[in-house]
Amino acid sequence: MNIKGKTILLTGATGGIGQAIAMELAKAGAELILVSRDSEALLRLRQQLPGQHRVFSADITDEKALRRLQVFCQQQGALHGLINNAGISQFDMVAQQDYAAQIKVNLLAPMQLCQQLLPQLQQQADAFIVNVGSAFGSIGYPGFSGYCASKFGLRGFTEALKRELGAGKLQVLYFAPRATHTGINSAAVVAMNQQLGNQMDSPEQVAAALLSQLKASQSRRFLGWPEQLFVRLNALFPALVDKALQKKLAVIEKYAATKS
Ligand SMILES: NC(=O)c1ccc[n+]([C@@H]2O[C@H](COP(=O)([O-])OP(=O)(O)OC[C@H]3O[C@@H](n4cnc5c(N)ncnc54)[C@H](OP(=O)(O)O)[C@@H]3O)[C@@H](O)[C@H]2O)c1
Repeated sequence: MNIKGKTILLTGATGGIGQAIAMELAKAGAELILVSRDSEALLRLRQQLPGQHRVFSADITDEKALRRLQVFCQQQGALHGLINNAGISQFDMVAQQDYAAQIKVNLLAPMQLCQQLLPQLQQQADAFIVNVGSAFGSIGYPGFSGYCASKFGLRGFTEALKRELGAGKLQVLYFAPRATHTGINSAAVVAMNQQLGNQMDSPEQVAAALLSQLKASQSRRFLGWPEQLFVRLNALFPALVDKALQKKLAVIEKYAATKS
């Protein structure tokens, strides 16, 4: 897929991975509609990017704001791409989890954005949707029950949408990073990953992988090794992963307790 000259809406543009994706896409010649709640951060980001871009400040859990974003996109003319990248994560055991917040940002809002922008995207000959999931969208991980539920849901939605649209003009892609060094991960998560030996990528590595997935029009991409192996193992032999994670539970509980 060719990116140059395409108008692409990117949610979560001010975040760690979002900023890196914005830079990759801008360097490849895309014209971006950058979305997050923080209008000043959006303007700062726009200044750093090569090319011409637009910003739109919105809380994507607010349905009225989503409608305004839809109208804004219609007013801008052609829309070729939607990247649902905004996300939040809570590292806590079940009793402390705020499920509604994570489901709204990570699952409901991307589903609504796909639904609202689909007619506009389908007007283009070569358009796409990328839903940014996670390795935790395939592996249920203790301490992340709300996040896992939201990302499992997003993966299911993406697959259903892709199959519903068939081999039409609009491509629907699922992109699943593993742990990455951004603000979404608290100090407790970073320390836990260190102790458990879980590798963390840089946002730049993740953004480069997304661009390469887009260029190759690859339907699904999972980042990292051994995470890719665990995703497959969990699908085929979940009892093996049950046992492996059981051994890590005490460490996970220790770090979850430090942050509550
Ligand atoms: N970092 C990781 O370890 C990791 C691993 C796998 C997958 N991912 C996924 O990668 C994506 C990007 O995450 P990140 O690591 O870059 O996180 P991040 O640095 O915390 O950035 C999150 C972005 O989402 C936006 N956002 C959050 N709530 C929002 C809301 N209600 N309305 C509008 N925008 C909202 C934030 O902007 P404002 O706060 O300014 O609104 C920010 O731009 C997420 O989908 C995440 O689940 C991350």
